[in-house]
Amino acid sequence: MKVIIRENAAQGSLWAAHYIAAKIKEKAARTDKPFVLGLCTGSTPIETYAELIRMVKAGELSFKNVISFNMDEYVGLPESHPESYHSFMHRYLFDHIDEPAGNIHILNGNAPDPVAECAAYEEAIVEAGGFDLFLGGVGEDGHIAFNEPFSSLASRTRVVTLTQDTREVNSRFFGGDVNQVPKQALTVGVATVLSSKEVVILAFGSKKARALKDAIEGPMSHYCTLSGLQSHPAGTIVCDELSVGELKVNSYRYFKAVEEAEK
Ligand code: GLP
Repeated sequence: MKVIIRENAAQGSLWAAHYIAAKIKEKAARTDKPFVLGLCTGSTPIETYAELIRMVKAGELSFKNVISFNMDEYVGLPESHPESYHSFMHRYLFDHIDEPAGNIHILNGNAPDPVAECAAYEEAIVEAGGFDLFLGGVGEDGHIAFNEPFSSLASRTRVVTLTQDTREVNSRFFGGDVNQVPKQALTVGVATVLSSKEVVILAFGSKKARALKDAIEGPMSHYCTLSGLQSHPAGTIVCDELSVGELKVNSYRYFKAVEEAEK
């Protein structure tokens, strides 16, 4: 696992956007096959998306041959609801880039048969060729996508029940009213994320410090589903000084030294 530590969230976001852009361009230079990208929601990726948008508008990057799959969606929230992940993604990314509408995939939280919807999603990912890169965030309790604590590290796309903690944290997007936050979601599984050739996780701010400590230094455990990244051959966590505040000094120095040595 690599841990890229930047001074602040703005610098971490820039690093991630440029890294993703480089990967898209690298594949485009090599093959006509589409770049398959996993995407996330939450406040964390917004600045990364803003930089990707800037690059597209400046003609430095194109999403024309990118196929994306989002991580998750609330169950029962209309797509037009401002806090649905459909709305979020259009607001912060898709409405401003050149990714063809047909290449955008987001789980349908209103599907009449959610189990079939999840199975079809897994099939569509395989049909697209599998993920080249999955961009994720992390919840305060270490959840990746909506794989709450004690989700199997072998989990695949499915219907999940959200924890009270997650609903309370996310209530800030629903006028502070936890009762407005849906109780269930559709989410890719931990194993779906880890099936990607590469996984990049963003984590900024002191609220993520415990999650990063558990994911990086703790044992690989369903208690902190991000810790599944330890088993991935190409996992990177991009973070800021605040979010690594609970790492051991030696771990911190190790990651800094590796990055310095690889410059
Ligand atoms: C939700 C999403 C996760 C996201 C997490 C953190 O639970 N399902 O994918 O990583 O929120 O959100 P934020 O970036 O706002 O801290």
